[in-house]
This record gives sequence, structure tokens and C-alpha cells, in this order.
Amino acid sequence: MNKLQREAMEQLSIEFQQMVDEFFSIQCRYQAAIREVKTKLEILDDEFQARHKRNPIHHMQTRMKSIQSMMEKLRRRNESVSISSAVENLMDIAGVRVICSYIEDIYTVADLLTSQDDVKVIRVRDYIREPKANGYRSLHLVIEIPVFLAEGRVMVPVEVQIRTIAMDFWASLEHSLRYKGDGVVTEDVSRELQQIAEDIAVLDQRMQRIHDRLDNTALEKLERV
Ligand code: GTP
Ligand code: MG
Repeated sequence: MNKLQREAMEQLSIEFQQMVDEFFSIQCRYQAAIREVKTKLEILDDEFQARHKRNPIHHMQTRMKSIQSMMEKLRRRNESVSISSAVENLMDIAGVRVICSYIEDIYTVADLLTSQDDVKVIRVRDYIREPKANGYRSLHLVIEIPVFLAEGRVMVPVEVQIRTIAMDFWASLEHSLRYKGDGVVTEDVSRELQQIAEDIAVLDQRMQRIHDRLDNTALEKLERV
């Protein structure tokens, strides 16, 4: 290695080290935001259970985007590739996925969460009322919530994806097929996946109707007592 190369390497490693340090400093606030949102949802679920004797939330998953996928996404979007650019441009560094039992639960959970007065709604995308062309369905929210750090209060964005168990089944298999196939999902396969998404949507509606019917029967019974 010549002198120029050595200097370039040293510079690179200083920049890399700086990036890693910055990543650790923001990681803390995104993880705190994830915990806050998860706790809010758990409280809503517990209260719903106390009132209605069932849980609208089936389960939840949380994740923070890795430094690598943040950088890849910035590069893909032609944004500058740095931690401060990620903080400014990426709304899904913190992610919470909420898997609900029934379609109506999705909107109940979303309404209860977004009506809390420390929750600021940044973006709503309803891919249930308007599914993506490939059949993908879910309700996506980007919310901001306050996190209290030594430096004071910071508003942190969190992407919340809310879907039924059936929608989650489709999305998770479609995702792995798309990646496993090295991006070679043929048109036939795409059409088939899209059809399966439609079939699943019908099943979700049928499940909702069964649930409503049983709920009404239970209510009538109660009224007779
Ligand atoms: P991204 O650049 O992918 O984050 O897109 P965006 O910021 O415009 O958000 P969008 O609402 O389109 O969806 C973002 C996230 O939703 C993705 O990271 C996935 O987790 C999920 N998603 C969106 N579309 C699909 C899809 O077609 N299939 C699957 N399996 N997941 C999807
Ligand atoms: Mg996204």
C-alpha cells in the first residue's frame, strides 16, 4: 500500500467509525419509540380485552432498520448516504407490525392509536381499500411520537403496518418468494399471487361475518338475561 492509499484507508475508517457512532446515538431513540408504540398498543389491547372479552391484536413484530438497509434505500432513492440523511428522509427506520384477528380490528386499532393526543399522524396509506396492483393489502401509518432524552423531547417517526393474519400470511410468503426467486417472479406467478390475495380478502370478509353473527347472538343472549 502506498502513502496515498494508506491515507485514503485511514480517512475511510474515520468516516466509517463516525457513521457507526452516529448510528448508535440514533438507535437509542428509535428503539425507545418502538417500545413506546408497542406499549401503547398493548394497553389498548388489554383494555379491549377487559371490555369486550377478546383481543383485537393477535400478535406484534417490531424491527429497527439495519445500517446497511438504510444506506441501500438512500442510494436507491438518490439521497445522500449518511445517518443524518437517513433520519431526515426515511420514515421507516422504526417499524411496528400489528397482526389483527379481523379486518374491522385493523381500523379500531388504528383509530384508537391515532386519536391519542401525543401521537401525530404523518401519513396514512390504506392498501386494504386500495390494494397494490400485486394484491398486497395492509393499512400503513407513519406516526410521530415524543421520546424524552437527556437533550430533551424529540419527535420520532415510526411506521406501523396493520393487517390481518391472512394478509400477513400472503405478504410474508410473497416477500420470501420474491427474494428467493432472485427477482425472477414470472408473470404467471404474479397473476397467481394476485389471485390468491383476492381469495384471501374474501376469506377475511367471511371470517368477519361469522364473528359479527356470533357477537350479535351473544349480545341477544345477554339482553334476554
Ligand atoms: P418502501 O420504499 O418499500 O419503504 O416504500 P414506501 O416508503 O413507499 O412505503 P410502502 O407503503 O409502499 O410500503 C413499505 C413497506 O410495506 C415495505 O417495506 C414492506 O414491508 C411492505 N410492503 C409494501 N408493498 C409490499 C408488497 O408488495 N409485498 C410485501 N410482501 N410487502 C410489501
Ligand atoms: Mg417503507
